[in-house]
Amino acid sequence: MCGIVGYIGYNEAYPILIEGLKKLEYRGYDSAGIALFEKEKIDIIKTVGRLEKLEEIADGNSPSCQVGIGHTRWATHGRPSDENSHPHRGCNGDFAVVHNGIIENYQKLKDWLIKEGHVFSSETDTEVLPHLIEHFYQGELLTAVREAISRVEGSYAMAVMCFREPDKIVCIRKDSPLVIGIGKDEKYIASDIPALLAYTRDTYILDDGEIALVERNGVKVFNGNGEAINKEIFKVDWDQEAAEKGGFDHFMLKEIYEQPSAIKETLEGRIDLDKDEVKLKEISLTREEVQGLSKIIIVACGTAYHAGLVGKFALEKTTRVPVEVELASEYRYRNPIIEPGKNLVIVISQSGETADTLAALRISKNLGASILAVTNVIGSSVAREADSVFYTKAGPEIAVASTKAYITQLIAMYLIGLYLGQLRETMAPGEVKEILDGLRCVPNQVESILASVEEVEELARKISTRENMFFIGRGLDYAVAQEGSLKLKEISYIHAEAYAAGELKHGTLALVTEGVPVVAVVTQRHVYDKTLSNIKEVSARDAYVIALALKGDEEINKVADEVLYVPQNLDFLMPLLTVVPLQLLAYYAALIRDCDVDKPRNLAKSVTVE
Ligand code: G6P
Repeated sequence: MCGIVGYIGYNEAYPILIEGLKKLEYRGYDSAGIALFEKEKIDIIKTVGRLEKLEEIADGNSPSCQVGIGHTRWATHGRPSDENSHPHRGCNGDFAVVHNGIIENYQKLKDWLIKEGHVFSSETDTEVLPHLIEHFYQGELLTAVREAISRVEGSYAMAVMCFREPDKIVCIRKDSPLVIGIGKDEKYIASDIPALLAYTRDTYILDDGEIALVERNGVKVFNGNGEAINKEIFKVDWDQEAAEKGGFDHFMLKEIYEQPSAIKETLEGRIDLDKDEVKLKEISLTREEVQGLSKIIIVACGTAYHAGLVGKFALEKTTRVPVEVELASEYRYRNPIIEPGKNLVIVISQSGETADTLAALRISKNLGASILAVTNVIGSSVAREADSVFYTKAGPEIAVASTKAYITQLIAMYLIGLYLGQLRETMAPGEVKEILDGLRCVPNQVESILASVEEVEELARKISTRENMFFIGRGLDYAVAQEGSLKLKEISYIHAEAYAAGELKHGTLALVTEGVPVVAVVTQRHVYDKTLSNIKEVSARDAYVIALALKGDEEINKVADEVLYVPQNLDFLMPLLTVVPLQLLAYYAALIRDCDVDKPRNLAKSVTVE
């Protein structure tokens, strides 16, 4: 969380920093600030509130200069306020620091620095950084940053400017992402690639512990031992348009509409059309290793965890290996049981930077599991630390509420399941072909759902005045219900809970009263009658039932108040279709309730703190 940017070159820094921050606002947006060189000092302009507020203050008031750093904040230590906004400086104003991450031992460092005579002006953990750098500075910024950071415990991506060395920015990372963009005679620094796309495709992706001295004409990168290293340039193949709204009112809507092409991209090259087989060259496990698997554990957070819930069904069906799905924030503190060499841990993370997911990966690896990462971001931390990486090809996802990343994570689950199932020979003859045929229909079927959104919009209007809702389903429908419920609450702020339909009567039914909307996902034919009975239970309590059912299901009309139909496919693949109307329901409900769809309150897209 938090986004940082930097620029050094011969152009005006201010507009470049602001544009970069706009691309990173998804990482946090409760305050923003910039630091720019003036003749006499480093000028810092910062404020609580959105980036527009910073622009209101800074437009026309920012000094003309060609070097600067900037920050958009998601508060962890210290409430959102002007003082707690970044950049932060030390006592003498010679240093300005922007930081993403958490300094875990900041209190100890702060106490010590105060004893040394330093005066603090914010409640943040970050402020210890400029004070520490100031303390160790002896004429060389790079050395002072190294010294300072050697005292620090925690996570950081940081960029530092020093008034006495105006032609340099020093940046360093550990457990928070940082990318350097390489232009001719100018360099850019950012937390994430979209902030650089307007200027360059050539980047250095810093690894943990690496520190970079960034100057107009060059970048020197050093490893944790202080040795200079030759960083390979990583060429980004996303175009800028992919990170723009492209005529849509919101990134979320654009990303929902990109799902058919994202699915196609993710399937592309992974199916052998002649043999009707899945081929995943990216998975390094041998046939013997796959056959020897005794357990698969899927670990993730948020929406990615919900993709994991579908993954459990996909993988158990195809491989007949037991699959556990774990929340990374729980798993990592639980001393998990791993049988070395016999367990596969699949971590799912759109950003590849979620702190808990990364920690879960490391723990599993140390315990001897084989690690497969499913991520959308090339070169991200989970991608670099896993044994194998399956890249989802969703393109940059900017809206905080994940949509196209989720759907491509589902594709990943199905393909990985099929691939492992092929190697284990646990699938019936013709089964792989049948599923692949089903998968190939999905992009067009999603298109058809997107072609008639009016009904969903109308329903969103009806529920938009409610404050509580329930989502129910069985099996795969329950997994999707959980994602639908999360989508709705995170962007429309309507309180929503998802329940396994059969579990409702063990407590939650008490909350179902007249008019309470209940969205029932009912596409799994083997439990159709059971779910229908559960719908009747809520109907009998006068709930307002919205069913999400298979086209052609006439029976459902008799028990539901409203029905949204989705095209038929294999039951096994239905999450790929049912999630789409639920995303749209959340989107329109949020819109009608006048919520900030792309930047919901208190949330951030990339959660790099625990
Ligand atoms: C945040 C985002 C969610 C996302 C979750 C996990 O909470 O708002 O959309 O699902 O983090 O992120 P990851 O990048 O690991 O998939």
